[in-house]
Amino acid sequence: MGSAARLTELPAWRALTELRGGFEGRTLRALFAEDPGRGERFAVEVLGLHLDYAKNRIDAEVLARLLELAEQSGLRGQIDRFFGGEAVNTSEGRAALHMALRAPRGAAFAVGGRDVMEDVHRVLAQMTGFSEQLRSGAWRGHTGQPIRHVVNLGIGGSDLGPRMACRALRSFADGPQVAFVANVDGADLAAALDGLDPAETLFVVCSKTFTTLETLRNARSARAWCLSALGDEAAVARHFVAVSTNAAEVAGFGIDPANMFEFWDWVGGRYSLSSAIGLSLMLAIGPERHREMLDGMHAVDEHFRSASFGENLPVLLALLGLWYADFWAAETHAVLPYAQDLERFPAYLQQLDMESNGKSVDRDGAPVDVPTAPVVWGEPGTNGQHAFFQLLHQGSRLVPCDFIGFARSNDECEDHHDWLMANCFAQTEALAFGKTEDEARAEGVPPSQLPHRRFPGNRPSNTLLAERLDPATLGKLVALYEHKVFVQGALWGLNSFDQWGVELGKALATRIGPELRAADEQALDHDSSTNNLMRRYRRWRSG
Ligand code: F6P
Repeated sequence: MGSAARLTELPAWRALTELRGGFEGRTLRALFAEDPGRGERFAVEVLGLHLDYAKNRIDAEVLARLLELAEQSGLRGQIDRFFGGEAVNTSEGRAALHMALRAPRGAAFAVGGRDVMEDVHRVLAQMTGFSEQLRSGAWRGHTGQPIRHVVNLGIGGSDLGPRMACRALRSFADGPQVAFVANVDGADLAAALDGLDPAETLFVVCSKTFTTLETLRNARSARAWCLSALGDEAAVARHFVAVSTNAAEVAGFGIDPANMFEFWDWVGGRYSLSSAIGLSLMLAIGPERHREMLDGMHAVDEHFRSASFGENLPVLLALLGLWYADFWAAETHAVLPYAQDLERFPAYLQQLDMESNGKSVDRDGAPVDVPTAPVVWGEPGTNGQHAFFQLLHQGSRLVPCDFIGFARSNDECEDHHDWLMANCFAQTEALAFGKTEDEARAEGVPPSQLPHRRFPGNRPSNTLLAERLDPATLGKLVALYEHKVFVQGALWGLNSFDQWGVELGKALATRIGPELRAADEQALDHDSSTNNLMRRYRRWRSG
């Protein structure tokens, strides 16, 4: 299966196009009335994750054709090649084998015929040893004080995963306080360092390439902050460690290679949470909890690899997303965790999904003739209800939603949790079924208000329910969405593992930076808008 052009020629695609035509006017109300049992039928529970997908604009036939589409597109073979360590990242000639990072010892994962499991477990053992030392106080700072604060310096995939997971697993943290700095805006570093004692602070510099502007600027400034207090270059060895694939650049920065935690080019940045990029998380929650998260991921990897498509959580989520993106012209997809601790989960998924599948040519470079990744966005409920849910209920756009909730709270507080989940379920119900004008009238709504107080309904959502937000469950959620993104990329014929689209802006900034900083007025050679903005900036900056 090479390209999306072929996707649209598959018999299942043609059947879906016809079914879509006949679906106009078949509302979720009508579908539930026709088939009262669909709530049980369009639900699947795997590994403690309960997915309810009954509130979608599908019937049994649409689902069957979507599953056929997956079969006809050669998805099974693509999954096998992915797990087989083939160079699925074709433009860079690399495998994408993050599944090896969480597999147990003895599992068989190889890249280019070379077993990678020994390397994976060697680095995990190094991370575990270091975490135990630091958490126990055996690892001391330059002046002999134990480390109480960790600052993770990284951006994109070297930040969003561990940042999201540290926030999500707040209740399991019993190690040093961990802060995250990503932005090259000095405000980010300043806010994180405010109140910290350099003698008790460790910096984890995370960068796959170790060439990323933001991370290196922050690392340099952090080193200056540290040395200005501790006075001695030798302090770097006790206060800086690195996570990278680039040992030469790490050494060039002045970090002892013994303090480097390695990962490999077959781990994509946005797929790197289960690599050494998770070191700050391990420092916060400890190696055992960290292993539980990896085990959760591994369990979903195995499920994804082996389950039939009709029972396969990532495949189902992917097909439903594709149905809305390609057949209903949905441009965005909202992720709405009813868990404050999943505050950063939508931001994490933004990179995962949009950097992977935000592409319009296929692996062979041919244009893709259907819409690909939607704009992914979201905020925790119930907060979002008091902000943007108005648009979800009565706006002019179709926004498919994923609701995520848990049966038990990590912070039981009177009846809060039941109210939280009451709202979660209520929102999916309101979105699906709405309220007709007749119903509003029967409630005594005055005629002049009826158009404003009717709810069209028929707004689709998935609900993912689990028992509790713990390390294993978080791992399962992460792997679930990773593989959902894989499936969509595979069907669209994309290379989900490169990100050339970020390069142009980086290159232009490299040119503009020196022009902004030059002592003398520069002859600028950009377009008139950019020239004008730069001149204004320079004038205000010097004034
Ligand atoms: O700019 C995009 C990107 O390359 C992401 O793909 C990556 O996660 C991020 O930058 C950080 O890269 P690195 O880990 O090499 O610093």
